Amino acid sequence: MKITVLSGSPKGDLSVTFQYVRFIMKKNPDHEWVVHHVGRHIGRLAKDRDAFAAIMDDVSGSDAVLWATPVYVALVPSQLKRFVEMVFGGENRKVFAGKYAGVITTSIHFYDHTAHNYLRAISEDLEMHFAGSFSPDMYDLMKSEEQQRLLQYAELFLNAAASRPPVPKAFAPLPLSGFDYEASQVSPDSRKTGLQGSKVVVIRDDNEPGTNLDAMVRRFTDSFAEAVPVYCLDEIHITGGCLGCCQCGIDYRCVYTGKDAFIDFYRDTVMAADVVVLAGTAVDRYLSWKWKQYFDRRFFNTHTPTLINKQLGYLVSGPLAGLPNLRQIMEASAEWEQANLVDIVTDECADSSLLDERISAFARNLMECAAARYVRPRTFLGVGGMKVFRDDVWGRLRFVFQADHAWYEANGAYDFPQYDEKTIEINNAMMQAMEDPDTRESIRKMIKTKMVEPHQHIVETR
Ligand SMILES: Cc1cc2nc3c(=O)[nH]c(=O)nc-3n(C[C@H](O)[C@H](O)[C@H](O)COP(=O)(O)O)c2cc1C
Repeated sequence: MKITVLSGSPKGDLSVTFQYVRFIMKKNPDHEWVVHHVGRHIGRLAKDRDAFAAIMDDVSGSDAVLWATPVYVALVPSQLKRFVEMVFGGENRKVFAGKYAGVITTSIHFYDHTAHNYLRAISEDLEMHFAGSFSPDMYDLMKSEEQQRLLQYAELFLNAAASRPPVPKAFAPLPLSGFDYEASQVSPDSRKTGLQGSKVVVIRDDNEPGTNLDAMVRRFTDSFAEAVPVYCLDEIHITGGCLGCCQCGIDYRCVYTGKDAFIDFYRDTVMAADVVVLAGTAVDRYLSWKWKQYFDRRFFNTHTPTLINKQLGYLVSGPLAGLPNLRQIMEASAEWEQANLVDIVTDECADSSLLDERISAFARNLMECAAARYVRPRTFLGVGGMKVFRDDVWGRLRFVFQADHAWYEANGAYDFPQYDEKTIEINNAMMQAMEDPDTRESIRKMIKTKMVEPHQHIVETR
């Protein structure tokens, strides 16, 4: 069989993920493997139609396609996202139809599932048959049992491509919308929201006039009594996507420093704001690759939160209700950034006056939360995610990500239970006391009342 590997890492041959693919190729020499480092060469592929067409030819002549990519910011690198958008453009998507699709990522298991959901969903949108995915930790290849597991996956993937079993779809097709939003002007009376000293910024990915997003952004800024600055990613000098070199881990110094305007923009505009509103149109199963590039380049701050206590919101044009994976990424990134995600307003209601009201209410809501300095408690998305970072930054990633380590130490992010002396003391005393069978039985009966007692005390005394 012929298998085309679409490798998404900007590091090309030096990609960790690609070593997993090389291992599979070495152990399965009877197949024809064709590798395209689309992430590494995206700049050229975007300009050179022939080079892109050659990849489409390989896909067309293949029995299966293997997406092989690192997880970057809960998805794939912006370079691969851009390639996916090129595939969806024009007639290219047809060459993928009917092929079997496999997915290999490497990561530290921070939102690897959302990257896998994305790749499965776009494979299904391309009318491919999903033949399973594999998500090892980036260092799993060092372990012989994990090497075996990788080869088992490869066998299952290759068997599926050869025997072509029917495969259920996991994701419903996205609804199409023909709705044209016509925003009304907000009357210049008391209904306009005041900024009350807060710095509000809106960032959008393109400046295309006449789109629903354009009208949504206008309605939003018009909801304020004062001018709200709107920045467009297209107009900020951004040389390229994150290259994955991780040099920033040492001291937050990105290799792009002095080479483009992104770092200054992020520090001086985004990090200096109190309220940040991100506006974008859904493109395939995410936002645009330009937005993905923004999120990847934000990684010069590595695993250190940059939006602490800020109010965050999104204006999205597109079928977000059909994109729970994208919503989860938005919620998760707000939570681990320690920001307050106030709301996500979309144009799915398909009713201009309702959308007008929703956007104005959103503006008021953002300012109310900013005035109250409200940040809602984190859910599993933020709590669980931070534990993954905490353990890795404390452990194996520490010397590369020493800037994170210093920040985590200084800001109480190392909240390991091992450091909680009071709890350790209580546990030791109680475990010892409960060795006595009578005490054990009486404590068993007290768990419910004792659990609520301190809470009752607070309610009754405060
Ligand atoms: C910009 C950037 C973003 C990353 N985002 C994530 C992430 O969201 N989740 C995760 O588990 N690992 C993340 N990682 C870690 C990579 O997925 C991991 O190091 C991977 O093995 C790199 O593979 P590669 O060498 O093939 O590029 C990120 C790394 C970089 C450089």
